Amino acid sequence: MKFDKLVRECINQIPPYVPGKPIEEVQRELGLSTAIKMASNENPLGFSNEVRQAITAAMGQLPLYPDANQYYLKEALAKELGVTPEHLLIGNGSDEVNKILGETILNPQDEVIIPQPTFSQYEYITVLMGAKPVFVSGTTLGNDLQAMRSAVTSKTKMIFICNPNNPTGTIVTRDELVAFLRSIPEDIVVVVDEAYSDFATDPDYPDGIQLLQEGFKNVVVYRTFSKIHGLAGIRLGYAVADPGLIKQMLKVKEPFNVNLLAQVAGIAALNSKEHIMLSKELVKQSRAEFYRELDRLKLSYLPTEANFILIDCGRDSAEIYHYLLQNGIIVRATHSFGLPTCIRVTFGTVEQNQQFFKVFKEALEKLAG
Ligand SMILES: Cc1ncc(COP(=O)(O)O)c(C=O)c1O
Repeated sequence: MKFDKLVRECINQIPPYVPGKPIEEVQRELGLSTAIKMASNENPLGFSNEVRQAITAAMGQLPLYPDANQYYLKEALAKELGVTPEHLLIGNGSDEVNKILGETILNPQDEVIIPQPTFSQYEYITVLMGAKPVFVSGTTLGNDLQAMRSAVTSKTKMIFICNPNNPTGTIVTRDELVAFLRSIPEDIVVVVDEAYSDFATDPDYPDGIQLLQEGFKNVVVYRTFSKIHGLAGIRLGYAVADPGLIKQMLKVKEPFNVNLLAQVAGIAALNSKEHIMLSKELVKQSRAEFYRELDRLKLSYLPTEANFILIDCGRDSAEIYHYLLQNGIIVRATHSFGLPTCIRVTFGTVEQNQQFFKVFKEALEKLAG
Protein backbone atom coordinates (compact mmCIF):
# COMPACT_ATOMS: atom_id res chain seq x y z
CA MET A 1 0.00 0.00 0.00
CA LYS A 2 1.27 3.47 -0.86
CA PHE A 3 0.83 5.34 2.38
CA ASP A 4 1.86 8.66 0.86
CA LYS A 5 -1.21 8.32 -1.37
CA LEU A 6 -3.36 7.41 1.61
CA VAL A 7 -2.69 10.48 3.68
CA ARG A 8 -4.22 13.93 3.26
CA GLU A 9 -2.27 15.76 0.56
CA CYS A 10 -0.80 18.32 2.97
CA ILE A 11 0.80 15.62 5.15
CA ASN A 12 3.36 14.90 2.43
CA GLN A 13 4.42 18.53 2.57
CA ILE A 14 5.19 18.62 6.30
CA PRO A 15 8.95 18.75 6.78
CA PRO A 16 10.07 16.34 9.54
CA TYR A 17 10.89 18.08 12.84
CA VAL A 18 14.62 18.13 13.66
CA PRO A 19 14.91 17.91 17.46
CA GLY A 20 18.05 18.50 19.50
CA LYS A 21 19.66 15.07 20.03
CA PRO A 22 18.80 13.49 23.41
CA ILE A 23 21.78 12.89 25.72
CA GLU A 24 21.14 9.12 25.96
CA GLU A 25 21.10 8.76 22.18
CA VAL A 26 24.44 10.52 21.80
CA GLN A 27 26.00 8.47 24.59
CA ARG A 28 24.67 5.21 23.14
CA GLU A 29 25.65 5.94 19.55
CA LEU A 30 29.11 7.31 20.31
CA GLY A 31 29.94 5.14 23.31
CA LEU A 32 30.40 8.18 25.58
CA SER A 33 29.92 8.01 29.34
CA THR A 34 28.88 11.66 29.65
CA ALA A 35 27.46 14.28 27.35
CA ILE A 36 26.31 17.87 27.79
CA LYS A 37 23.18 19.03 26.01
CA MET A 38 23.33 22.62 24.80
CA ALA A 39 20.94 22.06 21.93
CA SER A 40 17.33 22.61 22.97
CA ASN A 41 17.37 25.78 25.08
CA GLU A 42 16.58 23.96 28.31
CA ASN A 43 17.55 25.24 31.75
CA PRO A 44 20.89 23.74 32.93
CA LEU A 45 19.79 24.34 36.55
CA GLY A 46 16.78 22.09 36.01
CA PHE A 47 13.64 22.76 38.03
CA SER A 48 13.26 24.07 41.57
CA ASN A 49 13.05 22.14 44.85
CA GLU A 50 9.52 23.45 45.28
CA VAL A 51 8.58 21.72 42.02
CA ARG A 52 10.27 18.48 43.11
CA GLN A 53 8.29 18.48 46.37
CA ALA A 54 5.02 19.26 44.61
CA ILE A 55 5.47 16.47 42.07
CA THR A 56 6.43 13.97 44.76
CA ALA A 57 3.43 14.90 46.88
CA ALA A 58 1.05 14.56 43.91
CA MET A 59 2.19 11.09 42.80
CA GLY A 60 -0.52 9.35 44.81
CA GLN A 61 -3.20 11.06 42.72
CA LEU A 62 -2.00 9.51 39.46
CA PRO A 63 -4.78 6.90 39.27
CA LEU A 64 -7.23 9.78 38.79
CA TYR A 65 -7.78 11.88 35.68
CA PRO A 66 -6.36 15.38 35.93
CA ASP A 67 -8.61 18.45 36.22
CA ALA A 68 -9.74 19.06 32.62
CA ASN A 69 -10.20 22.75 33.37
CA GLN A 70 -6.85 23.13 35.22
CA TYR A 71 -8.65 25.29 37.80
CA TYR A 72 -5.86 25.84 40.31
CA LEU A 73 -3.11 26.30 37.71
CA LYS A 74 -5.23 28.82 35.82
CA GLU A 75 -5.96 30.70 39.04
CA ALA A 76 -2.24 30.87 39.85
CA LEU A 77 -1.26 31.87 36.33
CA ALA A 78 -4.01 34.49 36.05
CA LYS A 79 -2.85 36.06 39.31
CA GLU A 80 0.78 36.04 38.20
CA LEU A 81 0.02 37.57 34.80
CA GLY A 82 -2.72 40.02 35.82
CA VAL A 83 -5.33 38.48 33.52
CA THR A 84 -8.47 36.40 34.15
CA PRO A 85 -8.52 32.59 33.89
CA GLU A 86 -10.76 33.11 30.84
CA HIS A 87 -7.77 34.63 29.01
CA LEU A 88 -5.84 31.35 29.31
CA LEU A 89 -5.57 28.15 27.32
CA ILE A 90 -3.11 25.67 28.82
CA GLY A 91 -1.53 22.91 26.79
CA ASN A 92 0.81 19.95 26.70
CA GLY A 93 3.66 22.34 25.92
CA SER A 94 3.15 25.51 23.93
CA ASP A 95 3.56 23.29 20.85
CA GLU A 96 0.13 21.90 21.60
CA VAL A 97 -1.29 25.36 22.18
CA ASN A 98 0.02 26.32 18.74
CA LYS A 99 -1.64 23.27 17.24
CA ILE A 100 -4.95 24.05 18.93
CA LEU A 101 -4.91 27.63 17.65
CA GLY A 102 -4.20 26.48 14.09
CA GLU A 103 -6.93 23.83 14.28
CA THR A 104 -9.32 26.47 15.58
CA ILE A 105 -8.81 29.21 13.01
CA LEU A 106 -7.04 27.98 9.85
CA ASN A 107 -8.94 26.97 6.73
CA PRO A 108 -7.32 25.55 3.61
CA GLN A 109 -6.05 28.40 1.41
CA ASP A 110 -5.70 30.86 4.31
CA GLU A 111 -2.30 32.53 4.24
CA VAL A 112 0.00 32.56 7.24
CA ILE A 113 2.99 34.89 7.39
CA ILE A 114 6.09 33.25 8.82
CA PRO A 115 9.33 35.24 9.08
CA GLN A 116 12.58 33.42 8.36
CA PRO A 117 14.54 31.99 10.04
CA THR A 118 12.32 30.98 12.94
CA PHE A 119 10.89 28.12 14.99
CA SER A 120 9.65 25.30 12.76
CA GLN A 121 6.30 24.65 14.44
CA TYR A 122 4.66 27.67 12.78
CA GLU A 123 5.19 26.10 9.37
CA TYR A 124 4.09 22.70 10.70
CA ILE A 125 0.64 23.82 11.86
CA THR A 126 0.09 25.93 8.75
CA VAL A 127 0.84 23.06 6.40
CA LEU A 128 -1.03 20.54 8.58
CA MET A 129 -4.20 22.58 8.19
CA GLY A 130 -3.74 22.85 4.42
CA ALA A 131 -3.13 26.60 4.72
CA LYS A 132 -0.40 28.41 2.81
CA PRO A 133 2.81 29.49 4.54
CA VAL A 134 4.11 32.82 3.25
CA PHE A 135 7.77 32.94 4.21
CA VAL A 136 9.30 36.37 4.65
CA SER A 137 13.07 36.74 4.81
CA GLY A 138 13.36 40.51 4.68
CA THR A 139 16.60 42.33 5.32
CA THR A 140 17.06 41.37 8.97
CA LEU A 141 17.75 37.86 10.19
CA GLY A 142 14.43 37.21 11.94
CA ASN A 143 11.39 39.41 12.17
CA ASP A 144 11.51 42.04 9.44
CA LEU A 145 8.20 43.66 10.36
CA GLN A 146 8.13 45.96 7.36
CA ALA A 147 8.59 43.11 4.93
CA MET A 148 5.97 41.11 6.86
CA ARG A 149 3.52 44.01 6.62
CA SER A 150 4.07 44.11 2.86
CA ALA A 151 3.25 40.40 2.65
CA VAL A 152 -0.29 40.87 4.06
CA THR A 153 -3.08 40.14 1.56
CA SER A 154 -6.84 39.71 1.83
CA LYS A 155 -6.16 36.01 2.47
CA THR A 156 -3.85 36.50 5.47
CA LYS A 157 -5.33 34.84 8.55
CA MET A 158 -2.41 34.69 10.93
CA ILE A 159 1.09 36.15 11.45
CA PHE A 160 3.82 34.67 13.66
CA ILE A 161 6.33 36.75 15.57
CA CYS A 162 8.79 34.87 17.75
CA ASN A 163 10.12 37.34 20.32
CA PRO A 164 12.96 36.74 21.23
CA ASN A 165 13.36 34.85 18.00
CA ASN A 166 14.59 31.26 17.80
CA PRO A 167 17.33 30.73 16.49
CA THR A 168 18.64 34.32 16.36
CA GLY A 169 17.92 35.46 19.94
CA THR A 170 16.97 38.89 18.56
CA ILE A 171 13.89 40.92 19.50
CA VAL A 172 11.43 43.37 18.04
CA THR A 173 11.00 46.39 20.30
CA ARG A 174 7.79 47.67 21.81
CA ASP A 175 7.61 50.66 19.43
CA GLU A 176 8.18 48.43 16.41
CA LEU A 177 5.57 45.92 17.54
CA VAL A 178 2.94 48.56 18.37
CA ALA A 179 3.43 50.27 14.99
CA PHE A 180 3.12 46.88 13.30
CA LEU A 181 -0.04 45.92 15.19
CA ARG A 182 -1.62 49.28 14.34
CA SER A 183 -0.96 48.63 10.66
CA ILE A 184 -2.52 45.15 10.64
CA PRO A 185 -6.27 44.55 10.09
CA GLU A 186 -7.96 43.49 13.34
CA ASP A 187 -9.21 40.20 11.95
CA ILE A 188 -5.69 38.85 11.42
CA VAL A 189 -4.42 36.93 14.43
CA VAL A 190 -0.91 37.97 15.44
CA VAL A 191 0.87 35.33 17.50
CA VAL A 192 3.69 36.61 19.69
CA ASP A 193 5.63 33.57 20.88
CA GLU A 194 7.36 34.59 24.11
CA ALA A 195 8.95 31.26 25.01
CA TYR A 196 12.16 33.13 25.95
CA SER A 197 10.65 36.33 27.38
CA ASP A 198 11.99 35.66 30.89
CA PHE A 199 15.56 36.03 29.65
CA ALA A 200 15.09 39.34 27.82
CA THR A 201 16.78 42.25 29.57
CA ASP A 202 16.50 44.97 26.90
CA PRO A 203 14.30 47.75 28.38
CA ASP A 204 12.57 48.10 24.97
CA TYR A 205 11.45 44.46 24.99
CA PRO A 206 7.62 44.44 24.81
CA ASP A 207 5.23 42.43 26.97
CA GLY A 208 2.69 40.93 24.57
CA ILE A 209 0.15 40.42 27.37
CA GLN A 210 0.22 44.14 28.10
CA LEU A 211 -0.43 44.88 24.42
CA LEU A 212 -3.42 42.53 24.52
CA GLN A 213 -4.70 44.42 27.54
CA GLU A 214 -4.10 47.74 25.83
CA GLY A 215 -6.67 46.74 23.23
CA PHE A 216 -4.88 44.71 20.56
CA LYS A 217 -7.44 41.93 20.81
CA ASN A 218 -6.00 40.00 17.87
CA VAL A 219 -2.77 39.30 19.78
CA VAL A 220 -2.18 35.75 21.05
CA VAL A 221 0.82 35.30 23.36
CA TYR A 222 2.47 31.90 23.81
CA ARG A 223 4.54 31.13 26.91
CA THR A 224 6.10 27.93 28.20
CA PHE A 225 7.36 26.21 31.35
CA SER A 226 10.04 24.45 29.28
CA LYS A 227 12.68 27.17 29.47
CA ILE A 228 13.14 29.30 32.60
CA HIS A 229 11.20 26.82 34.78
CA GLY A 230 13.29 23.83 33.65
CA LEU A 231 10.25 21.67 32.90
CA ALA A 232 10.63 20.78 29.22
CA GLY A 233 10.07 17.11 30.03
CA ILE A 234 6.72 17.57 31.75
CA ARG A 235 5.20 19.45 28.77
CA LEU A 236 3.43 22.60 29.89
CA GLY A 237 2.75 25.82 28.01
CA TYR A 238 -0.07 28.27 27.54
CA ALA A 239 -1.67 30.94 25.39
CA VAL A 240 -2.97 34.27 26.63
CA ALA A 241 -5.61 35.75 24.34
CA ASP A 242 -8.96 37.49 24.23
CA PRO A 243 -11.54 35.37 26.13
CA GLY A 244 -13.69 35.24 22.97
CA LEU A 245 -10.92 33.44 21.07
CA ILE A 246 -9.97 31.25 24.06
CA LYS A 247 -13.60 30.07 24.27
CA GLN A 248 -13.37 28.84 20.66
CA MET A 249 -9.99 27.20 21.24
CA LEU A 250 -11.34 25.36 24.30
CA LYS A 251 -13.79 23.55 22.03
CA VAL A 252 -10.82 22.08 20.14
CA LYS A 253 -8.65 21.12 23.13
CA GLU A 254 -8.70 17.49 24.26
CA PRO A 255 -10.33 17.18 27.70
CA PHE A 256 -7.31 15.92 29.65
CA ASN A 257 -4.50 17.53 27.65
CA VAL A 258 -2.53 18.77 30.69
CA ASN A 259 -1.40 15.92 32.91
CA LEU A 260 -1.79 15.93 36.67
CA LEU A 261 1.90 16.32 37.53
CA ALA A 262 2.28 19.17 35.05
CA GLN A 263 -0.55 21.05 36.74
CA VAL A 264 0.98 20.88 40.22
CA ALA A 265 4.49 21.46 38.89
CA GLY A 266 3.31 24.60 37.11
CA ILE A 267 1.87 26.13 40.27
CA ALA A 268 5.04 25.33 42.24
CA ALA A 269 7.24 26.71 39.43
CA LEU A 270 5.42 30.05 39.49
CA ASN A 271 6.18 30.29 43.21
CA SER A 272 9.87 29.41 42.79
CA LYS A 273 11.07 32.99 42.77
CA GLU A 274 14.62 32.25 43.84
CA HIS A 275 15.09 29.60 41.16
CA ILE A 276 13.77 32.00 38.54
CA MET A 277 16.14 34.70 39.72
CA LEU A 278 19.16 32.36 39.72
CA SER A 279 18.28 31.06 36.25
CA LYS A 280 18.07 34.59 34.85
CA GLU A 281 21.34 35.53 36.53
CA LEU A 282 23.12 32.53 35.04
CA VAL A 283 21.93 33.44 31.55
CA LYS A 284 23.17 37.01 31.97
CA GLN A 285 26.59 35.78 33.10
CA SER A 286 26.74 33.25 30.27
CA ARG A 287 25.91 35.89 27.70
CA ALA A 288 28.78 38.06 28.89
CA GLU A 289 31.14 35.08 28.88
CA PHE A 290 30.14 34.00 25.37
CA TYR A 291 30.51 37.54 24.01
CA ARG A 292 33.98 37.79 25.55
CA GLU A 293 35.18 34.44 24.23
CA LEU A 294 33.65 34.88 20.77
CA ASP A 295 35.17 38.35 20.45
CA ARG A 296 38.53 36.82 21.32
CA LEU A 297 38.00 34.18 18.65
CA LYS A 298 36.93 36.92 16.22
CA LEU A 299 33.76 35.04 15.37
CA SER A 300 30.56 36.84 14.58
CA TYR A 301 27.42 36.25 16.57
CA LEU A 302 24.13 37.97 17.17
CA PRO A 303 23.71 39.71 20.54
CA THR A 304 21.01 37.64 22.20
CA GLU A 305 18.04 38.34 24.48
CA ALA A 306 17.46 34.60 24.97
CA ASN A 307 19.21 31.69 26.73
CA PHE A 308 21.06 30.67 23.56
CA ILE A 309 23.29 32.28 20.99
CA LEU A 310 23.68 31.96 17.23
CA ILE A 311 27.35 31.73 16.30
CA ASP A 312 28.59 32.09 12.75
CA CYS A 313 31.54 29.71 12.35
CA GLY A 314 32.53 31.40 9.09
CA ARG A 315 32.43 28.07 7.21
CA ASP A 316 30.03 25.16 6.88
CA SER A 317 29.35 24.27 10.49
CA ALA A 318 28.65 20.54 9.95
CA GLU A 319 32.18 19.38 10.80
CA ILE A 320 32.35 21.59 13.87
CA TYR A 321 28.96 20.31 14.99
CA HIS A 322 30.17 16.70 14.60
CA TYR A 323 33.46 17.37 16.38
CA LEU A 324 31.56 18.81 19.32
CA LEU A 325 29.20 15.83 19.27
CA GLN A 326 32.04 13.29 19.19
CA ASN A 327 33.38 15.03 22.28
CA GLY A 328 30.11 14.87 24.15
CA ILE A 329 28.79 18.36 23.48
CA ILE A 330 25.45 18.53 21.76
CA VAL A 331 24.65 21.84 20.10
CA ARG A 332 22.18 22.62 17.36
CA ALA A 333 23.37 22.72 13.75
CA THR A 334 21.25 25.31 11.98
CA HIS A 335 21.17 23.93 8.45
CA SER A 336 17.43 23.27 8.82
CA PHE A 337 16.98 26.99 9.57
CA GLY A 338 18.79 27.85 6.32
CA LEU A 339 21.93 28.91 8.21
CA PRO A 340 24.59 26.38 7.12
CA THR A 341 27.57 28.25 8.61
CA CYS A 342 26.08 28.65 12.08
CA ILE A 343 25.49 26.72 15.27
CA ARG A 344 23.00 27.58 17.99
CA VAL A 345 24.32 27.00 21.48
CA THR A 346 22.19 26.96 24.63
CA PHE A 347 23.93 28.53 27.59
CA GLY A 348 24.94 25.96 30.19
CA THR A 349 26.28 26.12 33.72
CA VAL A 350 29.61 27.94 34.21
CA GLU A 351 31.45 24.60 33.90
CA GLN A 352 29.49 23.50 30.84
CA ASN A 353 30.20 26.81 29.11
CA GLN A 354 33.91 26.39 29.84
CA GLN A 355 33.86 22.84 28.53
CA PHE A 356 32.08 24.03 25.39
CA PHE A 357 34.75 26.64 24.66
CA LYS A 358 37.58 24.17 25.34
CA VAL A 359 36.23 21.74 22.74
CA PHE A 360 35.00 24.45 20.37
CA LYS A 361 38.46 26.01 20.22
CA GLU A 362 40.00 22.59 19.58
CA ALA A 363 37.51 22.08 16.75
CA LEU A 364 38.30 25.45 15.18
CA GLU A 365 42.06 24.74 15.34
CA LYS A 366 41.94 21.14 14.15
CA LEU A 367 39.48 21.79 11.38
CA ALA A 368 41.04 25.06 10.22
CA GLY A 369 41.60 25.41 6.48
C1 LIG B 1 10.11 29.75 20.10
C2 LIG B 1 9.66 28.50 20.74
N1 LIG B 1 8.36 28.33 21.01
C3 LIG B 1 7.91 27.21 21.59
C4 LIG B 1 8.77 26.19 21.92
C5 LIG B 1 8.23 24.92 22.49
O1 LIG B 1 7.80 25.08 23.75
P1 LIG B 1 7.11 23.86 24.52
O2 LIG B 1 8.20 23.03 25.08
O3 LIG B 1 6.29 24.55 25.56
O4 LIG B 1 6.26 23.10 23.54
C6 LIG B 1 10.13 26.31 21.66
C7 LIG B 1 11.04 25.21 22.01
O5 LIG B 1 12.18 25.17 21.73
C8 LIG B 1 10.57 27.49 21.04
O6 LIG B 1 11.87 27.65 20.73
